[in-house]
Amino acid sequence: MAEKKAGSIAVFDSGYGGLTVLNKIIQHLPDYDYIYLGDNARTPYGTRSFEVVYEYTLEAVKKLFDMGAHLVILACNTASAKALRNIQQKDLPGIDPDRRVLGVIRPSVELMDQLSITKHVGVLGTSGTIQSESYPIEINKLFPHIQVTQEACPMWVPLVENNEFNNGGADYFVKQHISNLLNNDPAIDTIVLGCTHYPLLLNKIKEQLPTHVNVVEQGDIVGESLKDYLSRHPEMDEKCAKGGNVKFYTTEQVSRFKQTAGIFFEGELNVEHVVL
Ligand code: DGL
Repeated sequence: MAEKKAGSIAVFDSGYGGLTVLNKIIQHLPDYDYIYLGDNARTPYGTRSFEVVYEYTLEAVKKLFDMGAHLVILACNTASAKALRNIQQKDLPGIDPDRRVLGVIRPSVELMDQLSITKHVGVLGTSGTIQSESYPIEINKLFPHIQVTQEACPMWVPLVENNEFNNGGADYFVKQHISNLLNNDPAIDTIVLGCTHYPLLLNKIKEQLPTHVNVVEQGDIVGESLKDYLSRHPEMDEKCAKGGNVKFYTTEQVSRFKQTAGIFFEGELNVEHVVL
């Protein structure tokens, strides 16, 4: 089944949020071809069970492989938390051991020791990501001396998806979760935005934080880490087409995707509907 023809790098998300990651990946690697798949018809994933997120994500990965991708980035934290390990370990060897699926959690986790002076780190994410405990598990595997405190922010994704992230209503929910997090551990000096949507709330988040607290956005980190991965894996790099094209696929209506995707992605949106 090993296919030699070069394909686009695929970026997958449950919906629109992964576009914040795609933006940054393109800034770091502008010469490659990309396909973006948003499972907008079944979003959100953040409130769904482990089994369902795994099943949906695997369907998407298989589709992206069928579309010619050799490398799939799960830009969604919830999918990275609940499906990535199973797909890498159980499914990929049977589907095609030469293809790769990478997530967004590991690259952020690797920076924690370097960024935190107090060694107290906070993680903000969807209920699914927080309940999975993926961040504390991964951080403590590498850095057992770091204390991790988590906070689920279930209202933040709907605020962004409904274009309310710049409005007054968002202040209430941002303040609520930032105070919960800092009350639970006042020594936190580094906070990971463990959800694709949260960079759009960055200004409001920073307004609630003391200036010494670092806020870690994933887009740049994932872009940088993908660049490094491709330079270390020339066999994968040559299977990634280079033409600077970006194509979008959605499981929802194309017109709806175009309307909302503009909040997250600057530039031309060439969109097609796809069924998983
Ligand atoms: N993309 C998801 C994440 O990063 C947030 C949206 C959802 O719940 O599906 O966790």
